[in-house]
Amino acid sequence: MGATISPPHRCFSMRNPFARVLILTFAMIAVGGFFLRSDLDVQSALLKTAATAREAISLQSPLRHAEPGGRRGGAGGLGEQDHIGADAPKPSLVTENMTCGYDMDRLQQWQKLYRLQETFEYTKRYVQVSRQNISRKSVTNLDQSFLTDAVAVVDVNKQYETEECPEPLVVPVTMSPFPATANASEFMFGVSTTYKRFTDLRTSPINEWTYWLTDGKGNSNGGLLILLLLDASDSELEDAYNKLTRLGIDVDVYRSDASLIMAARYLAIVPKLYQHPERGTRKWLVICDDDTFFPSFQALADRFAEYDHQKAMYIGTFSEDVNNIRRHGSQAFGGAGVFLSVPTAKLVAENFEACKSDEKIAEANTGWGPQGDILLRKCIYENSEVRLTLLNDLWQLDLFGDPSGFYESGIKPLSLHHYRGGIWHIAHPWHYTKIAHVCGEDCTLQRFQTADDFVISNGFSVAYYPRGIDFDLDQFEATFHSAPENTGWNLDFILGPQRKSLHKTGRKISWDLQEAHLNEDGSVTQVYISKHDDWRWKNPDGTPMNDRDGIVELVWLPERHE
Ligand SMILES: *[C@@H]1O[C@H](CO)[C@@H](O)[C@H](O)[C@H]1NC(C)=O
Ligand SMILES: *[C@@H]1O[C@H](CO)[C@@H](O)[C@H](O)[C@H]1NC(C)=O
Ligand SMILES: *[C@@H]1O[C@H](CO)[C@@H](O)[C@H](O)[C@H]1NC(C)=O
Repeated sequence: MGATISPPHRCFSMRNPFARVLILTFAMIAVGGFFLRSDLDVQSALLKTAATAREAISLQSPLRHAEPGGRRGGAGGLGEQDHIGADAPKPSLVTENMTCGYDMDRLQQWQKLYRLQETFEYTKRYVQVSRQNISRKSVTNLDQSFLTDAVAVVDVNKQYETEECPEPLVVPVTMSPFPATANASEFMFGVSTTYKRFTDLRTSPINEWTYWLTDGKGNSNGGLLILLLLDASDSELEDAYNKLTRLGIDVDVYRSDASLIMAARYLAIVPKLYQHPERGTRKWLVICDDDTFFPSFQALADRFAEYDHQKAMYIGTFSEDVNNIRRHGSQAFGGAGVFLSVPTAKLVAENFEACKSDEKIAEANTGWGPQGDILLRKCIYENSEVRLTLLNDLWQLDLFGDPSGFYESGIKPLSLHHYRGGIWHIAHPWHYTKIAHVCGEDCTLQRFQTADDFVISNGFSVAYYPRGIDFDLDQFEATFHSAPENTGWNLDFILGPQRKSLHKTGRKISWDLQEAHLNEDGSVTQVYISKHDDWRWKNPDGTPMNDRDGIVELVWLPERHE
């Protein structure tokens, strides 16, 4: 390793009790001053003063800092609080291959890619998965702390010595199936999009499809995709076919009928699926968007096994925004996925011409242009007694703003949608679900709360609550909002009333997942990033909670069977 080795730099270590008392005292004085200036009522001021004793250690710079090389090796080593809980199981740890060095090439790449400061915080932590015969909890409490020492601050232009890794966090998880064993052979999916969206890196669904249509190793999981491309040349159709087939996706690619308007093109997916030669082997014909994602395919298949596919069924979910129902009506909102049993698809196929007449198209226009979802609902409702069956674990995600409150709720969604930005949120579900390969489907977005008030929302974020977790983790945090007119309760009929957002309160800071990788040894690396100038992580006075950007790298170790 490299040229510059930083000298030990231990004076700020909180292991020094004198420094701890000094800083605590100083911070208490500062906090007292803050409350004198404010005009809070006495009771809440008292409550907050009590709550800030803990925060005092970390208000201005939420994490204790040290330069690499100066962190460990002193007498005593790791702190007392780092033990693994007495009743936590101890699976065989893969510790011999844990490395906690500073790979400066990689750190430099991340620093550039995520536009971090040249000097930033870097925390690497191993997590040992322990699969047990338990059921999925929305949040699992761990006896261990997330931080075992002061946080390293690295300068991207320097080199550092390798350090000893702290013991891994050990997390108990269920024995949920891995994506490699999901069986989608009872489903046929229809998606209509354009060749441009299919190939543009910002909108291409190819990576996401490899997650829920293959075993992750280049083989189909049995799911069949019918892809309809608008305005594609023959060679573009072939290109799409080759790209997907090479990745193991079982796909048929067609050109969609450009003479139809968008809503009718959407409806036209149904006869296309129904007329497909493989229809006889399928139970569910599914219409979705090119930004519909199924994070836990086996859970989805298990849920559909509970329905009677021989009956005429129309299964989907509403928009989360009651205004959208008032505006467009009561039907399945298609981005979440619309599931038709074969008898229902037959009904739509047989009535297709009448269902897409000019008159019907005009009726499907609620003032926002003709809607495919409405056309489908009308086609079914006006030609049968079949009515929508609600499956609320599917998500349309008609939400605006920061989606964290949704993804950090401990939820196990059966579908996700609207995650490609534009007016909607940006999320990276293909990266979020990497964890499922090492930990099982249940692990995606499952929460682990550590003894030092960190919550890992697995795959999405690592959040730190410097004033403690004194709110209801079972409620969605209202980091997002509905479209206008926002009454304040538009979303409550699906989400329940939401708890207040912690944005700009000084009570929460998060590192958000930007990339994840399944490594050759079967482990999964997750890279979480926080920016010092993130608009959300401010104190009430507008100052940043943390002056430094930061990277949290988690490496999840698979359970080993001797
Ligand atoms: C450690 O890594 C080496 C080389 O990659 C590998 O052969 C070995 O099996 C690994 N050990 C464990 C316990 O994973
Ligand atoms: C899991 O536990 C339940 C009871 O808690 C038991 O009935 C079942 O057999 C167990 N399964 C396995 C695989 O051990
Ligand atoms: C997947 O499910 C189908 C239909 O239920 C079944 O015939 C097939 O054997 C299953 N495949 C695997 C690999 O389990």
